[in-house]
Amino acid sequence: MSHTENEEGTRRDFLYYATAGAGAVTAGAAIWPLVDQMNPSADVQALSSIRVDVADVAEGTQLTVKWLGKPVFIRRRTADEIEAARAVDLSDLPDNDARNANNPGADGSDENRSMDEAGEWLVQMGVCTHLGCVPLGDAGDFGGWFCPCHGSHYDTSGRIRRGPAPSNLPVPVAEFVDETTIKLG
Ligand code: FES
Repeated sequence: MSHTENEEGTRRDFLYYATAGAGAVTAGAAIWPLVDQMNPSADVQALSSIRVDVADVAEGTQLTVKWLGKPVFIRRRTADEIEAARAVDLSDLPDNDARNANNPGADGSDENRSMDEAGEWLVQMGVCTHLGCVPLGDAGDFGGWFCPCHGSHYDTSGRIRRGPAPSNLPVPVAEFVDETTIKLG
């Protein structure tokens, strides 16, 4: 996606690159250190808790916060998004694992990825599992997220559906500590 196209968007979230600074918008430059992401050292983990006020997040929008140096998408989903995510046959998932740190080993059903039973809240790392670009919200062929770097499409549950990314967007350790506050880590 060109810079110009990007600026035309009115969505709240935005595309940026881990290797920021060079202004590079080439696919090859957009690499995120996935190994670091998945294996934060123990001392980093110890300091890694943040609380996010989600009271002002409207349905159908997403808040992007930075946590442990990475973007985290906190989305308040519409009924349609939830329904679409829950209607998917698990055999259609390239990665049938919830990738949910709160629910290790569970299958990839939306119920195993969303924070609450109703499925209104979805919290996930905003880091493409291919090479680490930040996917765009409200985009792609499955109505969820789209990573323009090499064309990975994620559905409304953040599960990879098409493209080179090998796995679903990871759900970090997260919980509601009160009605409007999500604690990450
Ligand atoms: S980084 Fe390659 S598709 Fe997202």
